[in-house]
Amino acid sequence: MCGIFGIIGSKRNELGGILLKGIKRLEYRGYDSVGMAALDNGAIDVKKAAGKVDEVNKQLNFPKLIGNAGLAHSRWATCGGVTDNNAHPHQSCDKMITIVHNGIIDNFEELKQDLVKKGHKFSSETDSEVIAHYFEEKLASKSMREICVDFLREIKGTFAVLILKKDEDRIYALRRDSPLVLGICNDKNILASDIYAFSDLTNKAIFFENDEFAIVEKEKYGFFNKEGKEILKTIQEFKWEQEESEKKKYKHYMIKEIKEEPAVVKRLLFSLKTEQKDHFKKFIDLIKKSKKIVFTAAGTSYHASLLGVYYLHKCGIEAQTLIASEFRHFASVDKDTLVIAITQSGETMDVIDALKYVKEKDGKIASIVNVPYSTIQRMSKISLNILAGQEICVAATKSFVNQVTLLLAIAKEFGFKINLDNLPERIYGMLKSEEKISKLAKEIHRKRDIYVLGRGLSYPVAREVALKIKEISYIHAEGMMGGELKHGTIALIEDGTPVISLISNKDYDMLSNTKEVEARGARIIKITNEFDGDIKINTSNDGKFGILAAIFGQLLTYYIALEKGLPIDKPRNLAKSVTVK
Ligand code: AGP
Ligand code: GLU
Repeated sequence: MCGIFGIIGSKRNELGGILLKGIKRLEYRGYDSVGMAALDNGAIDVKKAAGKVDEVNKQLNFPKLIGNAGLAHSRWATCGGVTDNNAHPHQSCDKMITIVHNGIIDNFEELKQDLVKKGHKFSSETDSEVIAHYFEEKLASKSMREICVDFLREIKGTFAVLILKKDEDRIYALRRDSPLVLGICNDKNILASDIYAFSDLTNKAIFFENDEFAIVEKEKYGFFNKEGKEILKTIQEFKWEQEESEKKKYKHYMIKEIKEEPAVVKRLLFSLKTEQKDHFKKFIDLIKKSKKIVFTAAGTSYHASLLGVYYLHKCGIEAQTLIASEFRHFASVDKDTLVIAITQSGETMDVIDALKYVKEKDGKIASIVNVPYSTIQRMSKISLNILAGQEICVAATKSFVNQVTLLLAIAKEFGFKINLDNLPERIYGMLKSEEKISKLAKEIHRKRDIYVLGRGLSYPVAREVALKIKEISYIHAEGMMGGELKHGTIALIEDGTPVISLISNKDYDMLSNTKEVEARGARIIKITNEFDGDIKINTSNDGKFGILAAIFGQLLTYYIALEKGLPIDKPRNLAKSVTVK
């Protein structure tokens, strides 16, 4: 899930600064280690170390790197521990070849054994290093272009790779399944994992499809297919709904992004009546025409999809959702099936894999995406943008709110009763409970476990709140169906165990489930719009209740993590965009 960035044609003393800015923008993809390579008059300088970009930069001073071409990498380790040696870039024995890689080389063990037999010495435990030696070995008899063709044929696995050859002023770039895009400027060219990495330099881009490679120079580039035949590609001009990406007055991106929720909901609702109006209508028509509706998604987006199923069922529309990583094992798809992928990044590998399966079975693909032009958007017959703007904190907050808002707007077309116009105002109201919620966080931040209960529409929300608590506050949390607790988990309730109970309207069954755990000594935190509770939700609408209760969970998580002094925006072991299976 690493971020990769490369540039050719930079001014000599601007190189380090550009690489640093680019890789910082991709750091959301992984922050185990960072490294850079600079090509200057036939010499390559590599600097790399384990740690987050700012920490490593203090140590290595990346802006000092000079040259006209360079590569940068931020790593989310998949193969080999988090060490300085395993940080990218990696180089061949003779240092002729320098590479950065995002993805996993499945057959690296065999390739490595073979190369070691031929005398190659490896200096890291990564799968990626094999790429540098692979090119070095073949250079004795082949050109770089020919080796790229061999690479696409012989390498198994996923990759976005950038390669510098010491004596050439060009970058070789290859892609299969991991995202890669070329940014075109007049006097330089850039390669990166996403368009945001260079959105301050150009709005012209070419997306790589699978098994394509490119040879990129300062003022020209060529794209090739897997047979090595030159191909024509279309330049896309992109527009990016970009929030101010500075934290400004906020201590963390997470709280900044939560506070943006009323504004991004307003923007989405407006666009559904204006620029996305036609698309929205087509999306609804496609649902109407399809015999079977299946959502697929991962993590937080999966919780949004569970809500989507709930809303559609309330309108008499049969739908189901499947976790993307299990899709192949549980889905039955045919040509009358519409699969709706929900994804913030549009790059989640598990979701891409599910959609490949849909394609194999001739099903139709629609998607609900935040990052425009992302792989999943490009795989879809039709796609709606949730317009949440860039989300930098690893935890999804405003993107979840907008996914759910869009699902409510869809359900409304099928008869779900809701007035969405006052939703931004209701969210403002919820955000006003911040102080109360931070007190609650102080009270429970040392607890080992937290349970979150919901029924019906509040069940997916309970799971979402629990996921937030786990990933950001590092507290074991379970989001459960209120009715399921008594079938086992209730054995874990001890005196003082916090149990968050989400009770929408007169849900007496949920109220009983709450009382059942209260009777066993749990510290109940009641979130309700009907009964007396710790947090009162100001809406009588089930659809809006779900969103507001999720926002309560986001704030609670934030304040628990703040109390514990945790790295809120970049929690351990995670990355924003999960581009490996
Ligand atoms: C959200 O807080 C998580 N970090 C994660 O579960 C995320 O929702 C999941 O990886 C799916 O990502 P996507 O929406 O970009 O596909
Ligand atoms: N497999 C490579 C490594 O572990 C790249 C990781 C990735 O892209 O997530 O270094």
